[in-house]
Amino acid sequence: MSNNFASSAWKSPSNIALVKYWGKKDVQIPCNSSLSVTITRSHTVTRTEIIEKPGKQGPGFEFYFEGVRQPAFEQKIQDFFQRVERFIPAVSRNFLRINSRNTFPHSSGIASSASAMSALSLTLLDLEEQIGGRKFSREEFFRNASIMARLGSGSASRSVYGGYTVWGYNDSLEKSSDEYAIPVNHLVHKSFMNLYDSILIVEPGAKAVSSTKGHALMENNPYAPARYQMANRHTGALLGILSMGDFDGFIDIVEYEAMTLHALMMASSPWYILMQPATIQMIRKIVDFRKQNAVPLCFTLDAGPNIHLIYPQQSRIKVLDFIKDELIQHCPDGRWIDDKLGDGPEKMNG
Ligand code: DP6
Repeated sequence: MSNNFASSAWKSPSNIALVKYWGKKDVQIPCNSSLSVTITRSHTVTRTEIIEKPGKQGPGFEFYFEGVRQPAFEQKIQDFFQRVERFIPAVSRNFLRINSRNTFPHSSGIASSASAMSALSLTLLDLEEQIGGRKFSREEFFRNASIMARLGSGSASRSVYGGYTVWGYNDSLEKSSDEYAIPVNHLVHKSFMNLYDSILIVEPGAKAVSSTKGHALMENNPYAPARYQMANRHTGALLGILSMGDFDGFIDIVEYEAMTLHALMMASSPWYILMQPATIQMIRKIVDFRKQNAVPLCFTLDAGPNIHLIYPQQSRIKVLDFIKDELIQHCPDGRWIDDKLGDGPEKMNG
């Protein structure tokens, strides 16, 4: 049965964490709960097909990024396949060709592993339904996709859902789990459902220190225990703030989280800094602009130097002028991504 030709294509967006996952244990188990917004324009499209050619039968795969074979990524994907085999027993017996492309620069500090692992997991589960004779309920399908995505990259667990999601057990949130993310949009005030994320690209190249190395350095970071408690507290508090539509409370937590993440990097041994002078210049301008104009907006940072400018619909016109007049000058080639909260992954024509 597994010899039938089949293919699946999914588009999955990236997400930006408001409360950060930073530190893990066991097999991709987070040391604290995190809360993120799934965006829309920064996404990965992945098409996975089962191929039948002489010499290409049985377990195996080829990975292509933007049409070019990528042996360097294949080891990482091989490890991923070993971790997720139990979810896709029929698919795992076949030879797969995986084709992936992104709408944003690779390793730019925009979570490309989140959208990539989410998209790949969705195609694999979809194929399992097609050839393995299994039918998941929609809830089960996305829950399994979230677990699989997590096993590829922690933050990817949150990208299988649109809008706001929480990954990691939190005692203020029923059904939250370390194994998978859950959507929390039903708890969020409507004023937070039109959120923009304007990503100001300071450095489009590869990150100096990968997230995976950064997580590992938390193991000997003396501030780690306090950090994990703080993040769990922040997740609970931010859920309350989101339900009330309190943008001032939102700004306090989101900016504090961004600064704490980078402070933890600086307090790692060996220490490192991912912020660039332009990052700090923009942060100062954002805080001044907010004070002077009383416009709701704030910044957050991923594990890189780029600024994510977060604001609600009501600030849009003023913020666009601010970006053009004050911020774009700090971005090489004036590069920025005009992104916003989105509905999550989409199945494409296979
Ligand atoms: C700073 O999910 O990229 O973006 O699990 O090792 O793949 P791995 O790490 P990854 O780490 C993301 C870290 C972060 C915060 C976040 O997205 O929560």
